[in-house]
Amino acid sequence: MSSTYKIITYGCQMNVHESEKIAGMLESEGLTPAEEAEIADVIVLNTCCVRESAETRVLGNLGILKKAKERKPDMKIIVCGCMTQAEGVAEKLKKRCPFINAIIGTHNLNKIPVLLRAYDKKTQIEITEEQGINEKIPIARTSGINAWVNIMYGCNNFCSYCIVPYVRGRERSREKKNIISDVKQLINDGYKQITLLGQNVNSYGNDLNGKTENFPSLLRDLSALDGKFRIKFMTSHPKDILIETADAIAESDKLSRFVHMPAQSGSDRILRLMNRKYTSAEYLAKIDMLKSKLPDVGLSGDIMVGFPTETEDDFSDTLKIVTATEYNNLYTFIYSRRSGTPAAVMEGQVPISDKKRRIRELIDLQFAIGNRLAEKCVGNTYEVLCTEYKNGKIIGETNCGKAVTLAGNKELIGKFINVRITENKNSKLYGVNTL
Ligand code: SAH
Ligand code: SF4
Ligand code: F3S
Repeated sequence: MSSTYKIITYGCQMNVHESEKIAGMLESEGLTPAEEAEIADVIVLNTCCVRESAETRVLGNLGILKKAKERKPDMKIIVCGCMTQAEGVAEKLKKRCPFINAIIGTHNLNKIPVLLRAYDKKTQIEITEEQGINEKIPIARTSGINAWVNIMYGCNNFCSYCIVPYVRGRERSREKKNIISDVKQLINDGYKQITLLGQNVNSYGNDLNGKTENFPSLLRDLSALDGKFRIKFMTSHPKDILIETADAIAESDKLSRFVHMPAQSGSDRILRLMNRKYTSAEYLAKIDMLKSKLPDVGLSGDIMVGFPTETEDDFSDTLKIVTATEYNNLYTFIYSRRSGTPAAVMEGQVPISDKKRRIRELIDLQFAIGNRLAEKCVGNTYEVLCTEYKNGKIIGETNCGKAVTLAGNKELIGKFINVRITENKNSKLYGVNTL
């Protein structure tokens, strides 16, 4: 019987996709997926360290795996992902959890097969600061008709609260021809939705020779490919999104009218401390630009409460920007102190009780906004891509990023259909197939 593997993934889409690459490498070594972690021969923890809670969960899981390994001593445990690349963490993990077989940094993912073959009893650490792009990693895709495609890696922005630039390195764009050939292949293979990934997709191409490429031109080239498919992308940094991006979306029926553009805060003072490089007025001007070019645009964003020194006035500016933007979906976060980032040593850390009160207020406000927007969709007809079959119902996504539930059978998965929205229940949309 062949050996089995289980990957446990924390963090963002970037990591979810990276786990597909880890699976691809393990499968090309002859391993097959295990039902449960406890019985797997190889366990990979693909970690995140953006907030403390993510790290705590990884440590908790390592405690459980230690016991599993006591019962199954030949089990191999690999820890990779962002947490391992943070300063000093690999050494600390090695000391605290000597039962880990290998600790691999974000720039060394391709070493997994070599480490598996040259398995050592002592914890091996493979971390490097050297940053590149590895085009040759096989991918075992796991997200149905959606396929993730990296267009770039890393981040140059150094927002003062964020660990990502330290653990993922500087921005590296993939060559356009490689992205196009991947997307072509995926469409040929039957994938219907391609999601382009980057921490800041709008700076795509800035690091390529002679800056000959940019994000709007990539979008245009991808939407010119043959076939019926939909392209999405994330994340858009407000300082870099271009009018040409909105134009490219407006001109193509293959580009989703959905933009994830985090504001983080509505207070100019806090935005400055966060090193976000825009003001709330500039943010709202970009939102207005998107709404005027794309009248049916779906918006989502990230907002953080409790950044150091945030006052009630700053927070009320945040409520204002959220009200003015009208997000369909908002991801809300309590600021978490990340050691190694400038904000972690700032004076004026906000008490947790204030953070919790603010996040509750923010969530309530967003619920009302989301519900009002959802209510407005009732009666409208949208092109919907059917993505999932769950509890006897089809779940699909409109061309402006809204989730819809409707009656239908499994055969609809991967099909584009027209759906009339018939009901909004607490921000959840229900509809009927009008074909
Ligand atoms: N590149 C994306 C974000 C990646 S991290 C962007 O620029 O928008 C995803 C989200 O995690 C961020 O948008 C931010 O809201 C949140 N985040 C990052 N660091 C955090 C911290 N220290 N505490 C709380 N939330 C944080
Ligand atoms: Fe982090 Fe800012 Fe880069 Fe996003 S843009 S990954 S929040 S540093
Ligand atoms: Fe993503 Fe977490 Fe790394 S949010 S980039 S997995 S630190």
